[in-house]
Amino acid sequence: MASPGRNGHGTVLVVGASGFLGLEIVRAFAQHGWEVRGLIRDPAKRGRVRTAGATPIVGDVLEPSSLLAAASGADAIVHVAANPPADRGGTDRSREVRVDGVRHLVEAARSGGVRRLLVGSGYWVYADQPGLITEESRVDPRGESRVNYDTERAALAANRPGELDVLIVRPGMVYGDGAWFRPVVTAIERDAYHVIDEGKNLWSFVSLPDTGTGFFAVATAGRPGEVYNLVDGHPAAWGEFATFVAQRLGHRAPATITFGSAAREYGPEIAHHLAANRATSSAKLQALGWQPKFPEFRSGVSEVLGRRSRASPG
Ligand SMILES: NC(=O)c1ccc[n+]([C@@H]2O[C@H](COP(=O)([O-])OP(=O)(O)OC[C@H]3O[C@@H](n4cnc5c(N)ncnc54)[C@H](OP(=O)(O)O)[C@@H]3O)[C@@H](O)[C@H]2O)c1
Repeated sequence: MASPGRNGHGTVLVVGASGFLGLEIVRAFAQHGWEVRGLIRDPAKRGRVRTAGATPIVGDVLEPSSLLAAASGADAIVHVAANPPADRGGTDRSREVRVDGVRHLVEAARSGGVRRLLVGSGYWVYADQPGLITEESRVDPRGESRVNYDTERAALAANRPGELDVLIVRPGMVYGDGAWFRPVVTAIERDAYHVIDEGKNLWSFVSLPDTGTGFFAVATAGRPGEVYNLVDGHPAAWGEFATFVAQRLGHRAPATITFGSAAREYGPEIAHHLAANRATSSAKLQALGWQPKFPEFRSGVSEVLGRRSRASPG
């Protein structure tokens, strides 16, 4: 359990606070009475981070000096910074933001007396495999998931239980009104969404609100040096998921394409991820006392799509 902070609960620094996961992690900690600091690069994003419950702090995970005051005296840091747009010279700094970002945050944690570092990764690091995936299952990080895996390794190398506890969270497919889910909805609405070979392979999902509470559970009850899967515990076939979304939107079920044409269209790594079997267990996280509000995708997706149609009627 993280030590109680000055306000009787705790203080957390969320790095990547303006992002899809970051904002929800801010909300979860704030709703539990924690003092939340939200690191943002762009001052224009202050408002949304404040509304979610954090005090915005402008900084950059690639600029170590900007992290020192932000981290100082916090009980925990959560690193979900990712996906920076290419810089002015056109360089993609995604790997630096994740992997070097961890190293800078470890330094900031040590100098600021922070005892817990949580690093968000993703369940795509697991190998395509039959059977239920646990945290002990085989990994085979490819493409972008290689970056998340290297981020995990860099973080775990800094784990010193009692001094700096490092914990890894591997969310599954996080659905909510943003990230990958929004383009899926748009493509289905245009009858332009496809699944590979009927989409019989199993994916694992988790709703955005449950993602926030999952990170909170790991921060407050997780064991140092451990990895936790963050999924709803009810894997479902990709095609079943996409067909359900299409039905809810009043569109026809997505068409099927072969693996070969998907590899040509999206690239082999993405096609591999789409077609992989990753039925994943959340038993380890649930043993910490975490329970998803949406225990299977139908209830959660209905909620997201209902909110979306109320926001833009007709
Ligand atoms: N979305 C999913 O379904 C999902 C599922 C499982 C795992 N994950 C993993 O979770 C992580 C976060 O994903 P996401 O979907 O939340 O991404 P996102 O919406 O793109 O958010 C990334 C955040 O990182 C910030 N950031 C980028 N570069 C930074 C820098 N140099 N310093 C400080 N902050 C920086 C961005 O700030 P700006 O707004 O200023 O660019 C943004 O707030 C990724 O590693 C992803 O692989 C995501």
